Amino acid sequence: MLNIGVLISGGGTNLQAVIDGTESGEIKGQVKVVISSKQGAYGLERAKNHNIKAICETDEDKIIEILKENKIDLVVLAGYLKIISPKLVNEFRNKMINIHPSLIPSFCGAGFYGEKVHQAVIDYGAKVSGATVHFVNEEADAGPIIMQDTVKVMDDDDAKTLAKRVLEVEHTILPKCVKLFCEGKISVEGRKVKVSE
Ligand code: GRF
Repeated sequence: MLNIGVLISGGGTNLQAVIDGTESGEIKGQVKVVISSKQGAYGLERAKNHNIKAICETDEDKIIEILKENKIDLVVLAGYLKIISPKLVNEFRNKMINIHPSLIPSFCGAGFYGEKVHQAVIDYGAKVSGATVHFVNEEADAGPIIMQDTVKVMDDDDAKTLAKRVLEVEHTILPKCVKLFCEGKISVEGRKVKVSE
């Protein structure tokens, strides 16, 4: 049973999907702590509703301390809007994953978060979009890709309708990646990730 730490900044629907996966037994892991960069983020309420430690913290040294105190084996960034410093990346290299609401390497990196991502997809005229789960490295949204899935971009989509469709994909592939990680079925060689399902 692995110890999972989740970092959030907002509503936490991806956090909820992971919590649900651990409680159903699908994920052989336990969410031990949720850390939010934003006071009052609803994701903190979600954690409290499930008797999970919920902490608001922005100082990275303190975040590292909390993760170590809780013997965290896997850090999940779920709607976490701060850039991770090299120090934190190094502490959890290939043990920290992020969910991004586009098909990396498109529409990602600095400034691409939340609805801005989906607006950029629509403005560009892309025909498919989707979500990506990847390991976190020093560059934003640039670590080795673990899993992706796609959605069609409809002619009448706006950022909100596309975001909603992509979020459904996020809620599927993120818990799936956490499950596979907890089962030791994910291996990384350079940029290549192998998943034995
Ligand atoms: C999601 O779109 C996720 O892809 C992005 O931030 C948003 C947060 O969603 N990283 P939630 O807080 O998990 O509901």
